[in-house]
Amino acid sequence: MAPSPVLRRGTLLSATLVSLLAVFLGWRFLRPLNIFVVDDTFAWSIRTPVPEGLTSLRASECGQCHQEIYREWSQSIHARAWTEEYFQADYAFEGRPYVCINCHIQLRNQREFDAVSYRDADRLEPVLQRNPDFDPELQKEGVTCAVCHVREGRVIGLHPSDTAPHPVAVKPELLSGMDPCRMCHVASGQRWDMFYRLPPCGTVAEIRQGGKEPDCVGCHLPRVTRPSAEGGPLREGGRHLFQGGHHPPQVIKALEVAVERASLGDRERVTFTLTNVGTDHRLPTGTPDRHLTLELRLLAADGTVLDQDLHVMRRSVMWRPFIVDLWDTRLLPRQPRAFHFEFDPNRSPAPAALEAVVRYHLLDEARRRRIAYQNTAPIHYPVWQRRIPLTAAAGGNG
Ligand code: HEC
Ligand code: HEC
Ligand code: HEC
Ligand code: HEC
Ligand code: HEC
Repeated sequence: MAPSPVLRRGTLLSATLVSLLAVFLGWRFLRPLNIFVVDDTFAWSIRTPVPEGLTSLRASECGQCHQEIYREWSQSIHARAWTEEYFQADYAFEGRPYVCINCHIQLRNQREFDAVSYRDADRLEPVLQRNPDFDPELQKEGVTCAVCHVREGRVIGLHPSDTAPHPVAVKPELLSGMDPCRMCHVASGQRWDMFYRLPPCGTVAEIRQGGKEPDCVGCHLPRVTRPSAEGGPLREGGRHLFQGGHHPPQVIKALEVAVERASLGDRERVTFTLTNVGTDHRLPTGTPDRHLTLELRLLAADGTVLDQDLHVMRRSVMWRPFIVDLWDTRLLPRQPRAFHFEFDPNRSPAPAALEAVVRYHLLDEARRRRIAYQNTAPIHYPVWQRRIPLTAAAGGNG
């Protein structure tokens, strides 16, 4: 029996829909991947005249009088946000898109060319203008003092002062809580085809805007009482450390690990409970490259590996055809997470020890190779390790 015209029209319609869908998905797979929504908070450079009494916006100049703060900041990754090899490798790999300089060098005078407008709605195609005031030394300073402290020719500070050689605008509200960090670290970005919350570089994306905001300054600029400038009166302020994944002690102090052994009849179980005790965001946080691993190895007396296990705590993102936050196994603040390892204590050869290492990874080896980043410092380091001897009877704490 011949199909009715209605049926044939239906088949034609669905065939058309299927091929339209295929074309659409094909485009989603092939189009250039724009993973950034260029938010108002960082779409434009910071434009400010040099404050009266100063000759430049350079940290090296501020540092003549604010020596201790200058030393602290110089050790921080902020001071290397432009020169750092990992950033430079990634920037080159991505084809040096303008969008990167929006946060890594935010002052207008750090830019040889500055965006005066954008051609497209996504703001990924800037209309550039040569900047006659470009200062290559200032560029090298990355997230420099003036990015956080200078607006409209005045220095934003905490205390009124008669002795400062430059105008000070007393605005503690701009230097507390989350406010001074928001524009680069907590930038949001919503778009119809992004089912995720990943601002550029993904940093602390788990923090929601609004509600109770974490005190970034309280943790990352530890409290201190000392003169703000050489020879000045004692002031309440913060040490400019900005420590994170590049500073192992900062990560080590944020993680607590408990070990427990239990006998389950003919098997034995060792439980590792990991708790993020030191942050109000996830551990790890930052770019999706950052991750933690728990590596477990069951060893015989001669060192032979009898069994092993690997747990990964990271954020997984699907990039195509749509950007979707798939899952996130990082440690939530103060929520213990248990990992179990079971084995047969009577197996042969006999297990002699269980080796456990928690490791922090700045990025993984595959990505390091892909972007041709020639690291001089290791890209991962242990934050906790233990060798648990298994010769003693099971039970109690290991
Ligand atoms: C020639 C010395 C000198 C230079 C250069 C200088 N400052 Fe200052 N600054 C001072 C002095 C002195 C004070 C007043 C300190 C006080 O009263 O405790 C001050 C005050 C401040 C304050 C307010 C301190 C507070 O406790 O609230 C900030 C912030 C500040 N300066 C930042 C900067 C930055 C950023 C630069 C570079 C762009 C800079 N200063 C350059 C000497 C200097
Ligand atoms: C102008 C943009 C900008 C602002 C504002 C900013 N940051 Fe950053 N921050 C960066 C960039 C860019 C990096 C990464 C630099 C790199 O590694 O290349 C970074 C890195 C960090 C790191 C990582 C350190 C590490 O060891 O990996 C910490 C912690 C940090 N910032 C804390 C803060 C805090 C707290 C504030 C607010 C007081 C703040 N930042 C404000 C841009 C900014
Ligand atoms: C990423 C933003 C950021 C950068 C970069 C930065 N500061 Fe600060 N600065 C702050 C914040 C936030 C505070 C307030 C700290 C607090 O309340 O404890 C502060 C406070 C200060 C104070 C007041 C005194 C004190 O001890 O807190 C001075 C002076 C100062 N900064 C100078 C500098 C100088 C000089 C540089 C560069 C060498 C610099 N800052 C770089 C964010 C920044
Ligand atoms: C309770 C203390 C605490 C608070 C509040 C806090 N942090 Fe952290 N932060 C830490 C510790 C500890 C680490 C190191 C462990 C880690 O990487 O999670 C860290 C790491 C980081 C890193 C390093 C990421 C990397 O890739 O190396 C960044 C960036 C950061 N914090 C930014 C922020 C910002 C922005 C805020 C405010 C929204 C904030 N932090 C609030 C304690 C804190
Ligand atoms: C919205 C601001 C912003 C923009 C735009 C941005 N970044 Fe970042 N970038 C950051 C912050 C903040 C960090 C700190 C990351 C963290 O918390 O782990 C960072 C960190 C990085 C790191 C890690 C460096 C390290 O020390 O481990 C690389 C690499 C990087 N950015 C590359 C890029 C590239 C390439 C682009 C352009 C395609 C770009 N960034 C655009 C804010 C930004």
